[in-house]
Amino acid sequence: MSVDGRYYITTPIYYVNDRPHIGTAYCSALADTLARFQRLFGNETYFLTGTDEHGQKVEKAALDRGISPQAHCDELSEAFRELLPQMHVSNDDFIRTTEERHKVVVRAALQQLFDSGDIYAEDYEGWYSTAAERFWTEKDLVNGKCPDSGQDVEKIVERNYFFRMSKYSDQLRAHIEANAEFIRPPHRANEVLGFLDKGLQDLCISRPKARLAWGIELPFDTDYVTYVWFDALLNYISALGYGGDDDLFQTWWPHSNHLLGKDILTTHSVYWTTILLALGVPLPKSIIAHGWWLRGEAKMSKSLGNVVSPLGMKDVYGADVLRYFLMRDMVIGLDSDFSEAMLVRRNNSDLANDLGNLARRAAGLVDRYFDGKVPTEGAAGEEERVLHEMASALRRRVPELVGDLKIHSAIEETLQFVRSLNKYVTDTAPFKVVKTDPAAAGRILYTVLEGLRHVSWLLTPVMPMKMAELHEGLGTSPAITTLASLQWGDLEEGSAISMGKGLFPRAEPPEEAEETPAEPQAKAPKKAKSKPKKDSDVIEFDDFLAVQLVVADVKSCGPVEGADKLLIFELDLGTETRTVLSGLAKHYAPESLVGTQVVLVSNLKPRKIFGVESQGMLLTTEDAEGGVHLLRPGAPAPAGTRIQ
Ligand code: MSP
Repeated sequence: MSVDGRYYITTPIYYVNDRPHIGTAYCSALADTLARFQRLFGNETYFLTGTDEHGQKVEKAALDRGISPQAHCDELSEAFRELLPQMHVSNDDFIRTTEERHKVVVRAALQQLFDSGDIYAEDYEGWYSTAAERFWTEKDLVNGKCPDSGQDVEKIVERNYFFRMSKYSDQLRAHIEANAEFIRPPHRANEVLGFLDKGLQDLCISRPKARLAWGIELPFDTDYVTYVWFDALLNYISALGYGGDDDLFQTWWPHSNHLLGKDILTTHSVYWTTILLALGVPLPKSIIAHGWWLRGEAKMSKSLGNVVSPLGMKDVYGADVLRYFLMRDMVIGLDSDFSEAMLVRRNNSDLANDLGNLARRAAGLVDRYFDGKVPTEGAAGEEERVLHEMASALRRRVPELVGDLKIHSAIEETLQFVRSLNKYVTDTAPFKVVKTDPAAAGRILYTVLEGLRHVSWLLTPVMPMKMAELHEGLGTSPAITTLASLQWGDLEEGSAISMGKGLFPRAEPPEEAEETPAEPQAKAPKKAKSKPKKDSDVIEFDDFLAVQLVVADVKSCGPVEGADKLLIFELDLGTETRTVLSGLAKHYAPESLVGTQVVLVSNLKPRKIFGVESQGMLLTTEDAEGGVHLLRPGAPAPAGTRIQ
């Protein structure tokens, strides 16, 4: 978390040799979520993104299409720019490396380093990889191929310009060792130190025009253009007007945080930092490396042809649901698998079942019994006090977790609060209470609405539009500019609520297990569920989900007097305890079942058996000899885990 009131966040600038995919869109969505959280915590933010337009890959992509590199860049850069509002990304600036404001800074930096002797010319012999656009030494090669791309390399001798990167190695190492927050997560810092241990070489920062024309000409030698990485990295300061009228630079650079994927950690934490040291510019505050979205075992990337289109996903599920999935299902720093089926599951469980359902239940009851107006809060009882305490704990926890880059945990802890609110409604049954004690029912519903208002603000950085819809529908409350102004009890009693349509409709699972639109064409929204076909055994997914299957811990188990086939179980479902009878006495010794896990149908209508109310049914199988076996989860799961 920023502690000094300002936060400058950057994404890498995206190569325009390809259109955006989920991997690149994730980076923008994550930077946006971090920026929005910082604003919520009361920090001013500046958020930069853009496109990386020079170099061989881009030149080749344009040549392949038979158009000029500039025309190609104009078109592709626009595809990245247009995606941002569609993903609800709130960037302040978008820089293109073909813009003059950028080129001016690159030329000035090159000239400064040339004048200071940190850039020098030398004949160089090395292995050149077109795919990685760089030279490798003999020992870098893996089986004679480029270690980055696995592609062929060719031996080239040519005169080039070099940046004295090696000179700054010790200074960089000292900075990394002294600043634990500099490279995050911390295990990435060890990776960079390991890289430095191998000995830093100088960096070739020029390309002869004879080989590559598409780049920024060196100011001191017109036969060469600048190596694309040297050019691209400078975007982080050129966009702030470094070297010119640099108010923006003075304001934001001391608070800079670079977000990037782990594949470009070295270029940022070694190339970029040593360039800054040579220029005499302070180092950024932090470099944050996230993992990759995979498809199966492989990184999602154009070259592997396994990309998923963010626009395709957004058109089917909506940008905020896509953002929710990307933020909830990736632990920053680790890799994660992208699957549409997982996205649907996340939508249906967290958003439709938990959050959407709570909002719908509360709004329905307020409409029905309180004329659609926020009821009176009344005096809090024990249960309400517990919920108030949970809400204020969340107001403290979320900034801590986000500061530690644990966005997934911040979301999960907020969802746990939603689940507690749902349980509170179920336990207190306001629809019954209202008939005898309307004030008590009012207190319950006020608590739920106020809880929902808290949730809506805490999740605003993740789902800005959906959460605005939620808090706007909850009745009148003061505008929240920062988390400090989110206070329990500020929801105005008597103000009208208006939660029209369902906030989070359930989604149908993809037709095939791994169906995802691979190209950026929009997919038609899925139709609402239809009735099962006649004379068919097929049921809709929603019908299946109507049966609630949960994992339960067996707390106790014993015989039932007068019923020699039955066992009576006391089961722990995490949030409640259930009594269940099951015909297992001939198959299990009761004491052998205590401490094990079973699967329970938890929403069956209770039935009286031998005078005892059985609150659910255990799942079992029967073998050929008539032996009955309890079904159990394949791996231990927390009590109450829903099976779907
Ligand atoms: N142009 C360079 C960055 C220059 S920054 C001065 C570049 N561009 S890129 O378009 O190839 O990648 C941009 C970002 O997207 C990188 O941080 C990269 O890690 C990220 N991703 C690309 N594919 C990804 C996944 N499959 N998953 C997550 N992010 C990945 O590198």
